[in-house]
Amino acid sequence: MSPVSGIFLIFAILTTVSCEAYTPIVMWHGLLDTCCMPHNLGKFAKHIKEALPGVYVSQLKIGRTHLDDFINSVKMHPDKQIEIVCEMIKNDPLLANGYNAIGWSQGSQFLRGLVQRCPEPKMKTLITMSGQHQGVYGFPKCNPLKKPICNLLRRLINRLAYFGIIQETIVPATYWHNPLNHRAYVRRNTYLADINNERDINQTYIKNLQSLENFVMVKYENDTTVIPKESAWFGFYKKGQATKIENLQESNLYISDRLGLKQMDKDGKLHFLSNDWDHDDFDWPWFKENIVYKFLR
Ligand SMILES: *[C@@H]1O[C@H](CO)[C@@H](O)[C@H](O)[C@H]1NC(C)=O
Ligand SMILES: *[C@@H]1O[C@H](CO)[C@@H](O)[C@H](O)[C@H]1NC(C)=O
Repeated sequence: MSPVSGIFLIFAILTTVSCEAYTPIVMWHGLLDTCCMPHNLGKFAKHIKEALPGVYVSQLKIGRTHLDDFINSVKMHPDKQIEIVCEMIKNDPLLANGYNAIGWSQGSQFLRGLVQRCPEPKMKTLITMSGQHQGVYGFPKCNPLKKPICNLLRRLINRLAYFGIIQETIVPATYWHNPLNHRAYVRRNTYLADINNERDINQTYIKNLQSLENFVMVKYENDTTVIPKESAWFGFYKKGQATKIENLQESNLYISDRLGLKQMDKDGKLHFLSNDWDHDDFDWPWFKENIVYKFLR
């Protein structure tokens, strides 16, 4: 071997070793966003790569172009998106030994669907940033406690959200959660009610979710988009009304352990974090301290 190729070989080994030092990261963007916008995921990935040199970050793009990705975030049913992502991550050799995942907004409940439905390769830690694990009951930035019109708007959406055609074509309808009509939600919501085991208890979902090492949920205290913001921690309105909130530990989902979360809590796998962000905020020092240094290295 020539000295030059020897040096290359050493260099190749070193870079491989440093790449393997950190678990790869998969990020899933939110509604009306794309994989790589410079002010959003593009920026987050850049910061993460600086903090964890050599880490591989896969920014999920659903569709061929950035425009497809953007449109699919609004129009493609999450079941289909999850199928596509499942294939993508299976075919990515850099993820073969497992990965950590970060979901932004609706990307949170889609990554949770992914871990529940697509156990290979293995997701190790799931981090959800202002996710809607119990869905939403409110139009973004329209606070029903402050403006009565917002309450009318939610009742109007109640009438439309669970029609088949709306469920099939408008992504947020698949996590619209009407607390005034639990039966309608359970029967006719086509995504969230399923992954939350509201209809049947799918043991595979429980087993796969429990295979996570950590499930980190970040709630933004100043969130004006996610209504109620407690959904980030699986909190939601108590059934039959839309003002009082019950937290995860008070919910039937937890008490009867329909999704395996109670067991995960006992095992110390659930992490409830909060910050003072509004929905589109991002504060790198907070994120570095509380997420990157604690869960990604
Ligand atoms: C449970 O979920 C798995 C994974 O998505 C799926 O293959 C299976 O068909 C589901 N089982 C039932 C009874 O719905
Ligand atoms: C969050 O909301 C509180 C109360 O409304 C406010 O005092 C605080 O300044 C807000 N924080 C940020 C970072 O916007």
